[in-house]
Amino acid sequence: MKQITILLSLLLGTELLADIEKGKAAYTANCAICHTVNGGRAMGPDFNIVSYTRTKEEIQQYAENPSSLYRKFGYSANAMPTLPLNEDDLSDIAEYISSLQPFKKWMVKKKI
Ligand code: HEC
Repeated sequence: MKQITILLSLLLGTELLADIEKGKAAYTANCAICHTVNGGRAMGPDFNIVSYTRTKEEIQQYAENPSSLYRKFGYSANAMPTLPLNEDDLSDIAEYISSLQPFKKWMVKKKI
């Protein structure tokens, strides 16, 4: 049983990595023209920042339907197109973006 659990978690782990890789490719093809990763603000906000400020679910929902969410996200107008991506692509892209968080590993919150 223990071996099965280990094997299963290994498989799930590689699946997540594969999703992030797929998401990266889909990001490059569909989002990179307007969103950089660690490149400052282009037309839309940089995804390194977004990886801190938004959850995976929020990123996925926004990419799926920006015109219905831009007000909730604090914008006064919508300049982002609704892209013809399916659920899997959107989920992979959101997985990739929320995995960025470049400083998370060494950022420690201080308790006051
Ligand atoms: C044509 C340019 C363009 C493309 C392509 C584009 N975006 Fe955007 N995106 C924007 C702009 C501009 C904003 C800022 C809101 C606005 O002005 O409409 C934005 C905002 C966002 C936000 C909200 C950020 C925040 O936290 O405030 C997310 C999430 C996002 N985009 C994800 C994506 C994803 C994922 C893709 C690719 C699948 C993508 N965008 C493709 C232009 C684009």
